[in-house]
Amino acid sequence: MRTGFRITAIALVVALFGALLAACGGGGNKVDIGIVLPTKDEQRWVQDEQRFKEALADTKYKVEILFSQGSSAKEKENVETLINRGIKVLIICPPDGDAAAASAELAKKEGITVIAYDRLITNTDAVDYYVTFDSVAVGAAQAQYLVDHMKGGGQPVYLYAGAASDNNSFLFFEGAWKVLQPYFADGTLRIANSSEAEALKDKAELTREEMSRIIGQVTTNWDPNEAKNKAQTHLTAASDDLKGDVLILGPNDHTARAIADVFSTDSAITSYVVTGQDADKASVEYILDGKQSMTVFKDVRQLVKDAMSLAVDILEKRTPNATGSYFNGKIDVKAIQTDVISVDQSNIKKELFDSGYYDESEFVKS
Ligand code: BGC
Repeated sequence: MRTGFRITAIALVVALFGALLAACGGGGNKVDIGIVLPTKDEQRWVQDEQRFKEALADTKYKVEILFSQGSSAKEKENVETLINRGIKVLIICPPDGDAAAASAELAKKEGITVIAYDRLITNTDAVDYYVTFDSVAVGAAQAQYLVDHMKGGGQPVYLYAGAASDNNSFLFFEGAWKVLQPYFADGTLRIANSSEAEALKDKAELTREEMSRIIGQVTTNWDPNEAKNKAQTHLTAASDDLKGDVLILGPNDHTARAIADVFSTDSAITSYVVTGQDADKASVEYILDGKQSMTVFKDVRQLVKDAMSLAVDILEKRTPNATGSYFNGKIDVKAIQTDVISVDQSNIKKELFDSGYYDESEFVKS
């Protein structure tokens, strides 16, 4: 029959078209979970990508990872791309916490669940969850390491911080200040490179605005070049009594290596203790070689696991188990938090190699 034939013909054309679309990747382009990471230029985030890829082997969901290369505009483009691919969950780590609010709001409007990953998205109500390490504990562990290795007697401390656009920089600094401040106040330790910190040394708890003033002076912007230039400027300006045996609050591994390289070439520096975080492979090497004193090990496998199981809970309509919370300037965001471990030469084998995190044979002890 003519009508029957026509219907069959139309069905055939539709089926063919569908097959063609699928073959071109049109139909296969649907993504369930979108992940947006801040930059490929730092080992930390390449490590996260790697750990996500390892974890994806066990999921039936389609996941896509995009990088923003330090740009909030690129981040927004990435989020738009993922929205067009139909994501239901967005896992996002922003270069700039305030600027990312626009991207989060865009996703939220489409009914997508937004998970801030490692770095909080600030001053918006468009964030549903926050998966993070205990960042205040990171700063406290760095500072505690300096205290455990101090010589006292007004020993100089060089303070450095992360980027002010990253909420974590405040959490790290808050944790470090809590531990160091009593020693600044009683003169056991002396601040070498921040007049703002010096002016606040008697205050046990700093407001965000006060921390901003200090971070404004000693920020590395998470950039090793900026860290290196600042360290050079500080050492050029420092009087002799601010040299000798010094302590350095290095905010993360990438910048700590740059700072350590500067301090190690100044002949008036007798010894330095420098902190870091992330267990970057290059810093593992620096620690084995005695060029960086410690790192705070943040097990990215756990963070990835928490983020992925949160995303899967949402896709499968279960209520995620997020018991903590972080205020983002506008709302309390439900949070899942992971502990961190202080690592130096004494426990690096146990924590990083024996634990299976890294393969020991990849590192050469010189
Ligand atoms: C992360 C650190 C990282 C830093 C620079 C922070 O938000 O928590 O692990 O080293 O950003 O990328």
